[in-house]
This record gives sequence, C-alpha cells and structure tokens, in this order.
Amino acid sequence: MGKVHVFDHPLIQHKLSYIRDVHTGTKEFRELVDEVGMLMAYEVTRDLELQDVEVETPVTKMIAKRLTGKKLAFVPILRAGLGMTQGILTLVPAARIGHVGLYRDPETLEAVEYFVKLPQDIEEREIVVVDPMLATGASAIEAINSLKKRGAKNIRFMCLIAAPEGVEKLQAAHEDVDIFIAALDEKLDEHAYITPGLGDAGDRLFGTK
Ligand code: URA
Repeated sequence: MGKVHVFDHPLIQHKLSYIRDVHTGTKEFRELVDEVGMLMAYEVTRDLELQDVEVETPVTKMIAKRLTGKKLAFVPILRAGLGMTQGILTLVPAARIGHVGLYRDPETLEAVEYFVKLPQDIEEREIVVVDPMLATGASAIEAINSLKKRGAKNIRFMCLIAAPEGVEKLQAAHEDVDIFIAALDEKLDEHAYITPGLGDAGDRLFGTK
C-alpha cells in the first residue's frame, strides 16, 4: 500500500490558508500555488539517491554528494496541474515535464484520456504526477494508468488538498504509488467538491468560471 505523506511545514500551511481564502484573487492565487508547488517539490524529492563524488574546492579535495540514479519527470494533469509546474521547475530546472489531459465522459462519468505527451525515457525516470486536488481519485487513477501503459514504473502523486475518499481510491488502485499532500480535508460534498477545500482549482488559477 502506498504511503500518505501530509506536509505540515509552517510555510506550506501558511500559504495554503491564503490559497483556500475565497477573497484571494487570481494573480495572488496563481503565485501562491506556484510557491507551494516549489516547497512541495522540495519535500517530494527528499529521498532521492545521492552518490559520492570527488570535488576540488579552492582549499582542498573532498568527497561531496551529488544526485544519482533515476532522473525526474513531473507530469501535471491538465489543466489545474499546470498551476504548480513553474514553481517545481524553479526548484528542479532540469526536470522533464510530461502532460496528461483527461475529460469526464458525460455518460459513464469516467475519466478518459485525450492527450498524453511524455519524455521518451519515461520508464527510467522517477515520476511525480501533479494535480492540486485529489477529490474522487478518478483523474489521478486514470492519469497513472496512462503512464503505466507507456512503461512508467516509479510514480508518486502530489497534490495540495485531498479528500479521504480520493486517497482511499488511489491507494486501492495503485498500491505502489506514494501520495504527498499539503492538507487532508474532511470529505467530498454532493458535487464531488472537496470540503472545506478551495473551490475549483482550475477556475481560480485561470480566472474562468
Ligand atoms: N477539483 C477542484 O478543482 N476542486 C475540488 O474541490 C474538487 C475537484
């Protein structure tokens, strides 16, 4: 079963309180989501492997640490996942960015992929799927299905706010995927919005309704 990591870092919690606030406008909302994306990327990458390398400082030679092993790819789920991407790239500028687009079939209500573009060597990368909201879990599950179909193996999922229902479904569908969240909220409401949540993340990021 994938582990759930809830980030209680004061900076993340502080910024999240403004992100949730209905009085926060589009510009500030966007900036804050970006900033939290960056801070979360810092935590999500905490266990990346390091190797010893010899470095010559101006004073002497030493053994220092550098990242080794798998390279990173972040995969935002369109469209709200885009809101966290710039912040992530500020921290990990060399990371590759894939994209997965899904729509909800109006009859079956299931998430269906309409766009997938990934780095060619996706099977060799450490992948972080990014979406601000984990509500029913349907998009996250389908996005990860799309990645696995194309050979992806090492996948984590990162979001701002999750509902317990979504966490449970994602854990059941993808036992190998760890979940990183800034806040675990109370529940879904009857329209599948997270309560208390932050409203519609995509609309608030892009100023649409
Ligand atoms: N997607 C959102 O943007 N907000 C929710 O509360 C649930 C899904």
